[in-house]
Amino acid sequence: MSLTKEIQKRRTFAIIAHPDAGKTTLTEKLLLFGGAIQTAGAVKSNKIDVATKSDWMEIEKQRGISVATSVMGFEYKGVKINLLDTPGHQDFAEDTYRTLTAVDSVIMVIDCVKGVEIQTEKLMEVCRMRNTPVICFINKLDREGRDPYELLDEVEEKLNIQVRPLSWPIGMGKSFKGVYNLFDKKLNLFTPSQRKLSDDRNIINNLEDGQLDGLIGQNAANQLREDVELIEGVYPEFDPKDYLEGKIAPVFFGSAVNNFGVNEMLDTFINIAPAPKSRNAEEREVKPDEPKFSGFVFKIHANMDPNHRNRIAFLRICSGKFERNKPYNHVRGPKPLRFSNVTQFMAQDREIVDEAFPGDIIGLYDTGNLKIGDTLTEGESLTFKGIPSFSPEIFKEVINKDAMKTKQLEKGLKQLMEEGVAQYFTYEMGNRKVVGTVGQLQFEVIQFRLKHEYNASVEFAPMNLYKACWISSKDKKQLDEFVRSKNRHIAKDKDDKLVFMAESRAWLQMVQDNYPEIEFHFTSEF
Ligand code: G4P
Repeated sequence: MSLTKEIQKRRTFAIIAHPDAGKTTLTEKLLLFGGAIQTAGAVKSNKIDVATKSDWMEIEKQRGISVATSVMGFEYKGVKINLLDTPGHQDFAEDTYRTLTAVDSVIMVIDCVKGVEIQTEKLMEVCRMRNTPVICFINKLDREGRDPYELLDEVEEKLNIQVRPLSWPIGMGKSFKGVYNLFDKKLNLFTPSQRKLSDDRNIINNLEDGQLDGLIGQNAANQLREDVELIEGVYPEFDPKDYLEGKIAPVFFGSAVNNFGVNEMLDTFINIAPAPKSRNAEEREVKPDEPKFSGFVFKIHANMDPNHRNRIAFLRICSGKFERNKPYNHVRGPKPLRFSNVTQFMAQDREIVDEAFPGDIIGLYDTGNLKIGDTLTEGESLTFKGIPSFSPEIFKEVINKDAMKTKQLEKGLKQLMEEGVAQYFTYEMGNRKVVGTVGQLQFEVIQFRLKHEYNASVEFAPMNLYKACWISSKDKKQLDEFVRSKNRHIAKDKDDKLVFMAESRAWLQMVQDNYPEIEFHFTSEF
């Protein structure tokens, strides 16, 4: 098959949601429809249970599960779908942000009882940074949730994106009967089933068909006719181009656990979702159909086998064809790299692959050469953009408890940071080392892993910091002057970029006002 055909055939996306909205359930149903699994219950949630939050072995086990389900590939109606999993626990939000750099679109799950929740808002901001096309799936319609019109308004308001319903629920809660497909103008009435996909469907192609009244009752039929008329009147015709540009989010309603509305969304998804797109490298735009291979590492998973310090680097292919055993240019590194152990993830299995194409995610076994953000190419010196670090929310100073193990500690911290477990800052003054994370849980994971994998003992001392801001200025002299005058608050990140450690929001504001020529950024890429 030609490279262009391989590219056109692929859809690489992630499902994102506030915990408990139904991401795992929807993933499982998509795999069922794709024939990748046969029964429900096969996909394990990657959530770290609150009850097991302080149980280290349990967390390690959970990490194992999340590797197994990191990427799920399957074929559906001739389309190769690569579904990237995102961590369920919000303390791992940074991992999710990075995963979003490797996809071409996302499906966002929203709970119809709870509406748009805080984590959903944050994730949407990340999607907006790259104008990633978003489809919303409003879930749990079998529960008494909020009014669908009200939910649509809330999505528009809180997520700051225009919406266009492409399916519409018939009833809700106990009276929920299914969804009308506004895209296909068809009604598939399923028998709800948690265990299997029912073939027992009634297909109605015309809403005026009297059969509809018999199937769902006259009241529900009339309500549906009214709703559809209203929606078609209020919302402009759906234009896939607006969706592809990230300007409008098509909305589907359903109940993942009952298989309601999932099929409607999946069929529309393969029709409208983007095939692998061009990507920006610092040097130039890279098109997927360029013959030469390029790709970047967006995730590293270490410690698969405690006896060997091996890790899997997840690489998104951006252009050309990847071939096993071929030497590739490791743009940041000193020498070319060749990979013999290359895996792809089909359904729940991992298999060795000889070649892979743009949009595919491959797992490369690595002994410590690769780090997040690294680019591999067929020769050209390219660096893909769009894998930023975000300012952490919790900061703690690293206290070395065993001076004899300083080297181990430094090595361990370096490797954990390369995996993206947390961020690391070193103060210019006094060489104090600070770890920054999105959640409390990472400190416990870091302490545990440093002890068990590197034999280093640390404690973390709380620090009163609000944000780490990357700083820049068009005027180098002014920047030098700022760094000099604020040197007690200046640190460097892992790439030696200058960071201003702000103690409070008000203080940051004041400093910003006093130094208008200095730019303060909340992400490392600006
Ligand atoms: P997450 O990955 O987004 O965190 O959510 P997950 O799929 O694990 O779903 C969270 C809970 O919501 C689960 O219940 C799941 O069964 C339920 N759920 C998912 N989709 C629907 C739906 O369409 N309707 C209803 N009523 N519930 C739904 P749980 O009690 O936490 O676990 P379980 O024992 O049911 O698996």
